[in-house]
Amino acid sequence: MAKANDETFNGLSAKEWTILSKNVWNDVSSPRQSYHLLHGATFPLALAERVVSLYSKEGDIVFDPFAGIGTTVIAAAKLDRVGVGIELQQQFCDLASSLIDKEKTDLFGSKQSLRHEVICDDCRALEKHLYSGSVQVTLSAPPYPNMDVRPAKGKGSGRPRKTDMVEDMSERVPAHSLRQDDFGNFGYAMYLEELKKVFKKVLNVTREGGYSLWVVRDQRDTYNNAQYVPVHADIINAGISVGWKHHDLIVWDQNDQRRLMLLGYPNVFYSNLNCSYLVVFRKPKDK
Ligand SMILES: C[S@@+](CC[C@H](N)C(=O)[O-])C[C@H]1O[C@@H](n2cnc3c(N)ncnc32)[C@H](O)[C@@H]1O
Repeated sequence: MAKANDETFNGLSAKEWTILSKNVWNDVSSPRQSYHLLHGATFPLALAERVVSLYSKEGDIVFDPFAGIGTTVIAAAKLDRVGVGIELQQQFCDLASSLIDKEKTDLFGSKQSLRHEVICDDCRALEKHLYSGSVQVTLSAPPYPNMDVRPAKGKGSGRPRKTDMVEDMSERVPAHSLRQDDFGNFGYAMYLEELKKVFKKVLNVTREGGYSLWVVRDQRDTYNNAQYVPVHADIINAGISVGWKHHDLIVWDQNDQRRLMLLGYPNVFYSNLNCSYLVVFRKPKDK
């Protein structure tokens, strides 16, 4: 990256700004290490670095309420920002801390003194860990919701019918715990309601004009005849309902990372859902 430009809010030159303004990203993959398998649902460091460099400048606070193994915080450390994450599961917090420590030993001078940590907590208590109006950008990927919300009795065995299976079930990730406070265990309606609470609290800790980016993938409801669930659109509406401005939508093209599945053959044609969305919110400025 070129020398920081003091005139822009993120330090980018006009040339960098233009090149990075593509709304389809297909160049943000990063090498996978063995520790990524311990989590199973991380996003690439390159994606986090791009977001951090686009929406913040050196010294700003970057936040991730569903921090996993700390990819967002590590990107913040590498780019000389403060990084704070919250993660529910202790083993991921521990792994994040060791990865952050390792990253920081490679950094020099002022970068080492900035705060970089992943706190073990439920992110619905995020106000305990951050001052209001302090965060410049949030980057986060919540777990996938649990689409199986049918009553236990009277609806068959509880498994999707084979003919309706259109999703790659092998993608069910180890990140998912059995805890009741894990968003991955919430039915879809509750998932959106609880996310709204998080969005509202994130809005409160964000500076005026700051940003919040949510990495989500649409789904097919394998328990409801493969109905398409437009998760990204529901997330946009949830954010708007608590006061965020919907600022942008970026497509993360994952065709090169995901294998194609034969879906619905030979009766019903479905596309493979091989992209995720980065829903971008902005905190309105008071007039
Ligand atoms: C998709 S992963 C995020 C991975 C992260 N982006 C990374 O690259 O490491 C979602 C994370 O949210 C965590 N989680 C689930 N419910 C939570 C809650 N109530 N509070 C905080 N974290 C939660 C899960 O344990 C999981 O690690």
